[in-house]
Amino acid sequence: MAKDEPQPVIAVRDLRMRYGTKDVLDGVTFDVHAGEVVVLLGPNGAGKTTTIEILEGFRNRSAGDVEVLGVDPQVASEEWRARIGLVLQSWRDHARWTPRMLLHHLGEYYEPYSTELRPRPRDVEKLIVEVGLTEQANQKIRTLSGGQRRRLDVAVGIVGYPELVFFDEPTAGLDPHARREFHDMVHRLADYENTTIVLTTHDLDEAEKLADRILILAGGRIVADGSADALAREVAKDSQVTWTAGGQRHVHATADSTEFVRQLFADGGKDVTDLEVRRASLEDTYMEMVRKYETAPHRGDIDDAALVDAGKELS
Ligand SMILES: Nc1ncnc2c1ncn2[C@@H]1O[C@H](COP(=O)(O)OP(=O)(O)O)[C@@H](O)[C@H]1O
Ligand SMILES: [Mg+2]
Repeated sequence: MAKDEPQPVIAVRDLRMRYGTKDVLDGVTFDVHAGEVVVLLGPNGAGKTTTIEILEGFRNRSAGDVEVLGVDPQVASEEWRARIGLVLQSWRDHARWTPRMLLHHLGEYYEPYSTELRPRPRDVEKLIVEVGLTEQANQKIRTLSGGQRRRLDVAVGIVGYPELVFFDEPTAGLDPHARREFHDMVHRLADYENTTIVLTTHDLDEAEKLADRILILAGGRIVADGSADALAREVAKDSQVTWTAGGQRHVHATADSTEFVRQLFADGGKDVTDLEVRRASLEDTYMEMVRKYETAPHRGDIDDAALVDAGKELS
């Protein structure tokens, strides 16, 4: 890392996690920088939740170095904890409480950690409106629908005005409208409050929409690290250009679609209509990366140099 680069918010080096005799994380290395939205992708059982819980300080790792906000989560203080947004499962035990009561109650915990830049806790009444729980604010938590509970999860995660927030599958089971509202919230948190956000999802469109950077976890390793565009370029060098001219549909695959289209118009493209350029989607990329891992006879056969590090080409 260059000297003038700011310290990463999260630094993970050669992280390993073994459950019994099973190595779930087998040398995971990545950084996350302030204000980044990083989406962690990977098949079921890849170790995404394990990774997040280690970063949150809820799970002790087997080996490797981890720093979150400059501190090892395994020995972190309450003050450190107050700077991080977590969604604990345990608030669901407060079934007889209402969202308003719970948020006020949890908010109190953050009061001693209030700073000028981040007044803690957040204004609970505003928060309730923001996450769309106005009508349910005084309803017993146990009577909330699945989607409403998810909204409350998000509110719980950000009530302390965190610098860094973790969301593990935040939009699973949300309807399209609630999902869109969550996306807007993520953008607000990142753009206006410079919040660093790490989230997991199985929705690749969502990943593409939200992520500044995507990490793909497979076989206990990070097999891809880069923007959605950079990953797609890595996997599929060619884009597909389609257009209509002279009443005919044309298709052409090219590595340099911009130059191709320039030429197309230069060569008298006046009657070109319905022009479309399609690059490999994140889904194509994801499938390819995970397939590559899965078809390797054993992990040792994927050599480090072959791992996609599309982020490099950007810096
Ligand atoms: N406490 C645990 N004890 C034993 N195995 C576990 C434990 N937690 C998770 N695992 C196993 O570790 C693997 C990764 O789990 P997890 O981190 O939940 O994956 P993901 O979130 O990517 O689906 C799975 O095979 C899971 O069964
Ligand atoms: Mg999980």
